[in-house]
Amino acid sequence: MKRIIAIQSFRGGTGKSHVIANLAYLLHLEHKKVAVLDANLAAPNLHLLFDVNPERLEYTLNDYLAHNCEAKDILLDINGQGKLFLIPSTLSAAATTQIAREGCNLERLCEAIRQIAIEFDYLLIDTQSGLGAETLLSLSMANILLILQEPHHLDDPGTAIAREMAKKFAVESCYSVINKAMPAMDIAALHTQSIDAVLPFSDKISAPSNQGLFGIFAQLFPKDPLTEALRHLAKKIARPR
Ligand SMILES: Nc1ncnc2c1ncn2[C@@H]1O[C@H](COP(=O)(O)OP(=O)(O)O)[C@@H](O)[C@H]1O
Ligand SMILES: [Mg+2]
Repeated sequence: MKRIIAIQSFRGGTGKSHVIANLAYLLHLEHKKVAVLDANLAAPNLHLLFDVNPERLEYTLNDYLAHNCEAKDILLDINGQGKLFLIPSTLSAAATTQIAREGCNLERLCEAIRQIAIEFDYLLIDTQSGLGAETLLSLSMANILLILQEPHHLDDPGTAIAREMAKKFAVESCYSVINKAMPAMDIAALHTQSIDAVLPFSDKISAPSNQGLFGIFAQLFPKDPLTEALRHLAKKIARPR
């Protein structure tokens, strides 16, 4: 069965893009054929995380939405092995302005997700923070939803709303995930809802040795506790509840 995994958070900066990119990488290591879609059209950054040379971005999701190409044209084989693909979006002032003015062609986005999901074991979808139209569409098409938040209860109401939406959309499995947890934190005591996974804070993410944003953490630091926690989450996702 094809699996569509969406990630969502109420606030920006919780780590959605990092987490979804790393999960895509880890799932492809499990011999799965994986695609990861950058559906944060207002501020796409997955191509930066995967350290893709901008010259390789011939077509993006924006081109598909504008009927400039077909779904197969927007699949970028990350490491040339036919197992891990990125569907990038355009990062430019013009593209952002156009999306802000005209919105996203939701029917066409739905078609892209449907067509691409057929070809893969997993399609992972990165989203914009909050519950805008593209994010709601992604949630409605997902089998699995990861709701990410930082470890303080201010994010709890947002997480509760996302859970409610997931229920409405009959998403099969919904996981509440805490990111950037500090070692001494009692996560269960901090939150009003149950937590399914905890990902630790890592100062290596922005360390100079990691050249800032570029590169997939799990690939760069395969033995780090954050990678271990991400691997555990990937295994949980791969095993249906
Ligand atoms: N586990 C973590 N530990 C430390 N920093 C993190 C962690 N996860 C993400 N970050 C940092 O948080 C910031 C936001 O991450 P990002 O993935 O862009 O969030 P979002 O996509 O939710 O806006 C980035 O600077 C990233 O390096
Ligand atoms: Mg992001």
